[in-house]
Amino acid sequence: MRTPESIRTMPEATTSPLRPRVLSGMRPTGMLHLGNYMGALHNWVKLQDQYECYFFIADWHALTTDYADTSNVAAATLEVMKDYLAAGLDPAKSVLFLQSKLPEHAELFLLFAMITPLGWLERVPTYKEQQENLTGKDLSTYGFLGYPLLQAADILIYQPQFVPVGQDQAAHVELTREVARRFNQFYKLGEREVLPEPKVLLTPSPKLPGTDGRKMSKSYGNTIELTDPEPVVRQKLKTMVTDPARVRRSDPGDPDKCPVGDLHKLFSTPETMAKVYEGCRSAGIGCIECKGWVADALMQILNPIQERRAALTDAGVKEILEDGTRRAHARAQQTMAEVRSAVKLI
Ligand code: TRP
Ligand code: SF4
Repeated sequence: MRTPESIRTMPEATTSPLRPRVLSGMRPTGMLHLGNYMGALHNWVKLQDQYECYFFIADWHALTTDYADTSNVAAATLEVMKDYLAAGLDPAKSVLFLQSKLPEHAELFLLFAMITPLGWLERVPTYKEQQENLTGKDLSTYGFLGYPLLQAADILIYQPQFVPVGQDQAAHVELTREVARRFNQFYKLGEREVLPEPKVLLTPSPKLPGTDGRKMSKSYGNTIELTDPEPVVRQKLKTMVTDPARVRRSDPGDPDKCPVGDLHKLFSTPETMAKVYEGCRSAGIGCIECKGWVADALMQILNPIQERRAALTDAGVKEILEDGTRRAHARAQQTMAEVRSAVKLI
């Protein structure tokens, strides 16, 4: 019988088949920012101890929009991998891998393409939205329409129970479930369903404003990057917008109407919060001082991340990625053997 002692002395668990499996990924957009951290990475790091985790970099997905100039994709992939590790993803706990090294993803994508009605893809909300937003690019390509189907292949090939993503990706997971259902209707292995439907594990995404008060996003140019050194963080905060009612130092303000106040709510201690509410509403503190406190709180988070990042070498990071990709490959090959046999090709 297991005593609490024996549980405590068990070796650090690596990926265990007894835990529910999760899979998620990001496109390699370059240096990650606080929004990426709070909206995804921070949550993934916590999942590592409870789930069998697969996290990857969706570099083929980058080509759906950046096909005309692919010169940044490789470098961005390496940076994102460094940010993964710096944020605390641990190759001893999670399988960390690169999509484009796994031809099985492309094979499953092809099979999905055979069975998916066009209307399903045309109705995905991000399809029309992005086409209208990214006006500088011709996105009337087959690959861009098929984006969610490639994502479905990325997911289902690992047969995960959960996909931890933000609200913006929920529609893609929903389509993934529909594709799995259709596949399972057409193709079975005996009575068994080869591709179980995963559930979305919605990442709580607190409101994280960028320096201009809008949602922090690379495309708005209002980000604080995980790699920003302290003086840069302080400088960016200095220019951050505040409660518009607080024009002069002597005007009282309201942290509930201020993007800096939103940052305090996410990162500051209750003691600091109390000083902010009191000082802002009574005009007892200035915005410069208040922003300095946010910078202090941010550096508490960024310092350990930046220290871990500084210890990484390109060669070491590539090795970790290759090792994870080998492990993912073994898993993907297993699923594809079942898939091929269910589809009944020779
Ligand atoms: N579409 C996701 C994004 O833009 C990236 C992605 C690709 C993904 N394949 C995935 C996320 C599979 C989760 C699971 O962020
Ligand atoms: Fe915003 Fe702080 Fe200035 Fe109040 S004191 S308006 S919370 S920056």
